Amino acid sequence: KLILVLSLAFLACSQAKEVGIRRYDGYQVYSVNADTKEKYQVLWDVYMNNEGVLDFWTDPAIGKATDVMVPPQEEAAFKLLLEKNGISYEVKIGNVQEIIDEEKAENDQARQARSGESRIGWTAYSTYAEIESFVQDLPSINSIASVQSIGTSYENRNLYAVKISTSPNNRKAILIDANIHAREWITSATATWILNELVTKTAQYGEVLEGIDYYIIPSINVDGYEYSRTSDRMWRKTRSVNSGSTCRGCDPNRNFPFQFGGEGTSSSPCSDTFKGPSALSEKETKAVADYVNGLLSSNVNILAYVSFHSYGQYWLLPWGYTANAYPVDYSQQLSLGNAAISAIQAVHGTRYVTGTGADVLYGVGGASDDWAKNIGIKYTVTAEMRDTGRYGFVLPPAQIIPNAEETMAALTEVAKRVRSE
Ligand code: ARG
Ligand code: ZN
Repeated sequence: KLILVLSLAFLACSQAKEVGIRRYDGYQVYSVNADTKEKYQVLWDVYMNNEGVLDFWTDPAIGKATDVMVPPQEEAAFKLLLEKNGISYEVKIGNVQEIIDEEKAENDQARQARSGESRIGWTAYSTYAEIESFVQDLPSINSIASVQSIGTSYENRNLYAVKISTSPNNRKAILIDANIHAREWITSATATWILNELVTKTAQYGEVLEGIDYYIIPSINVDGYEYSRTSDRMWRKTRSVNSGSTCRGCDPNRNFPFQFGGEGTSSSPCSDTFKGPSALSEKETKAVADYVNGLLSSNVNILAYVSFHSYGQYWLLPWGYTANAYPVDYSQQLSLGNAAISAIQAVHGTRYVTGTGADVLYGVGGASDDWAKNIGIKYTVTAEMRDTGRYGFVLPPAQIIPNAEETMAALTEVAKRVRSE
C-alpha cells in the first residue's frame, strides 16, 4: 500500500501540468467489488488520498461495483493493492481513449449531418456557445419561456436560468440544476431537450406544465464543460485557480453551504472532490445559491429541486451527507422516488435504484441537493442518469434523446406530486 501511495503522490505532481489535449491511451476502468467493511475501508483510503491520480468514476460503495479509472503506469500497483486485500475486480473498459474517440467520431458525424440548421439538436452534444444561443432564443419561440441571467462564471461566461410558466402568476415551482460536474455531458443535453420540448410542444405537456412553474439552470459549470470538451474529457471540477497549487478548480457539488467539509470531501486542491477554500467560493455555486435564495425570498414556492448528474441510474433522496439519516418526510420522498423510477422504466426499460444519496452511494457534504433540502425545499433529488458504466460519462450521443425521454417521464411524476402538495 505504501508503494501505491508513494507512486500516486509522485504522479500527482506530474499530472498538474495542463498541456494540449489530455489523452487516455491505455487507461482502464476497473469495476471493483469491496464486499466487506475492511475492504471498503481500503478502497475509501485510496479514494480520499490519491490526489486525483486514480479517477473514481463512481463513489466507493460496499458490496456494489465501484468504477475506478486507472492510468497504465498505476495498473501494477493498483492490482497489487486489490489482490493483497482480497478485493475482487474486473476490467470494464479496456481503453478509455478508444471510447472518447468513438464518442467524438459519432458526435462530429451527427453535427455534420445537421450543419446548416440554426438550432441545436439532440443527436450530438453541443458547445456552450450553442447552448447559450439556444437559451437566448427560447422566449422568441414561445413566450412561456423567459431567460434570466444569474451571473458569470470564473472565466466570464454567462450563466442562465430559464423560467417556463404558462401563467402570469407565480405558482408552485420546480427547480432543476444541470451540469454541476463538467464531464457529465448528458445532463445539460437533457436539460436543454426538456426546455425544447416544453417550448415547442407545449400542448403535449399539459401534465407537466399545468399549474407548475419551472426554473431550469441548463448548464452551471460552464468553464468546466468547455474544458472537458476541448482539453480533458474527464474534467469534473470548476476551473478556478487555487492559491498555492498548480491544480485547478474545486468540486462544485462539495461547495454548497450545508455540511461543507463533511464526509466525502477533500481539502486537497488536486483532488477531484476538493471542497474549495470556503463554501460558495465558486462564482457558479454562488450564482445558484443567490438565485434560489432570491426566488424563495420573493415568495416563489419551490417544492422540488432536482440536480442532474451522471452516471449510475440512481434517483437519490435526502439526506446525502451521511448514511442512515432520513428527513421526517422520508416516506414521501421515497414514494415519489419509486413513482419516478417506475415511470423511467416504463419508457425504455431503464432501471434506476432509489434511496438516500448516502445509503445508496456514500455520504458527501456540501452538495446542492442537501443544501436545497436544508433551506426548506420539500422534495430534493440527485438524478444520476445513464448508464451503469458501459460508457460512463462518455455516453454515446445516440443515447441523449432516450435518456431525456425517460427523464421527462420522471419529471412528470415530480410535477404530479408537487401539484398535489
Ligand atoms: N455523484 C454525486 C456527487 O458525488 C452524488 C451526490 C449525491 N448527493 C449527496 N448529497 N450525497 O456529487
Ligand atoms: Zn456528478
